[in-house]
Amino acid sequence: MSSEYDVKNLDLAPGGRLRIEWAEQEMPVLRQIRERLAKEQPLKGLRISACLHVTTETANLMRTLQSGGADVVLCASNPLSTQDDVAASLVHHDEIPVYAVRGEDNDTYFQHINAALDHQPHITMDDGADLVSELHKGRTDLLNDVMGGTEETTTGVIRLRAMAKDGALKFPVIAVNDSLTKHLFDNRYGTGQSTIDGIIRATNLLLAGRVVVVAGYGWCSRGIAMRAKGLGARVIVTEIDPVKALEAVMDGYQVMPMLDAAPIGDIFVTSTGDINVIDIPHMERMKHGAVLANSGHFNVEINLKGLAELSDRPAELVNRHVERYHLKDGRVLYLLGEGRLINLAAAEGHPASVMDMSFANQALGAEYMLANHDQLENIVYTIPAQVDAEIASLKLAAMGVKIDTLTDEQVAYLNQWQEGTI
Ligand code: ADE
Repeated sequence: MSSEYDVKNLDLAPGGRLRIEWAEQEMPVLRQIRERLAKEQPLKGLRISACLHVTTETANLMRTLQSGGADVVLCASNPLSTQDDVAASLVHHDEIPVYAVRGEDNDTYFQHINAALDHQPHITMDDGADLVSELHKGRTDLLNDVMGGTEETTTGVIRLRAMAKDGALKFPVIAVNDSLTKHLFDNRYGTGQSTIDGIIRATNLLLAGRVVVVAGYGWCSRGIAMRAKGLGARVIVTEIDPVKALEAVMDGYQVMPMLDAAPIGDIFVTSTGDINVIDIPHMERMKHGAVLANSGHFNVEINLKGLAELSDRPAELVNRHVERYHLKDGRVLYLLGEGRLINLAAAEGHPASVMDMSFANQALGAEYMLANHDQLENIVYTIPAQVDAEIASLKLAAMGVKIDTLTDEQVAYLNQWQEGTI
């Protein structure tokens, strides 16, 4: 067992182990990578500090990196997403130091990030860029050892690109989120399913016939809109980007500003990566009993302070993950999962089958960084396209799906310009 850790209760380890194994069977691509890494040991002696949601899927990534010879530590990338049994199992069965307790306060959350940094990483592995941000703000003494990092999510990639633009980023980072085998599947099908799962587990509401307002039409939001529609909801999309708004219209959704959607919606879901997407003027117009949920990375998309200011008393917990706010004008609004990402707060996050590809990108991204960091600048990179194609091929093979290959004649045709209409 690792001697350094902070988890809720090590007695939870046996149950965590079984659930990690349950997820593992849905992660065949990661399994194949693990088998190769175990044989080749390319990560031998590499110190990796990971700040990720502590889930069964993440446990399988940590075990994969460890099999390749890496010395890994893990802390939570959100105070409310940790699965305590998984954290216990990683410490107890795999001797991986974990610093994560579900429901930890903000001070503990940052103490845990700093404990993971104490490990003096060669590679950082982030989900939301809090680890990298903390490293650049207060732990610059560690920068010498860092070769580079990987980043899981849209929000983190946006943050890191802002750092690179300011010249503030001091090592190269691979944007795992930019891989097609990440965002087309994890963001769309993963967030789509797990967000609806979280809302339903928290509320047990029937979505059929309800008006669901989805803020944003990026890959995550379009997954949410698609799944809500599939369950019979009437879906309204709000956007600031004209192209995405047009796509939403042509995908069959109503599109309008949030101020117009506010009095119509029954359930509101934010997934934009921006702040105060649901703000006081929106909450002032909402129907009595409207439900507010966030699926974006940070708990900033719903103006929580504003919601408290509109209320005449402290919120009360009416169901696990459902808080009732009594507004001064007599209406009530329901907030799910404290405004934190609902798919991990009230459900279990994305299914293992999509995390399989996301975490294959993480593992291969770390390997790529180790091999190539000398040639990279301090900016944000996308994993080479052939790695993406390899992950997709492995996934298809694992699913038993065969595809065609180009004939020599077809390759030649695609490489010429003379022949057109015949
Ligand atoms: N992000 C969303 N779902 C996740 C999961 N199941 N594990 C780790 N990170 C996630």
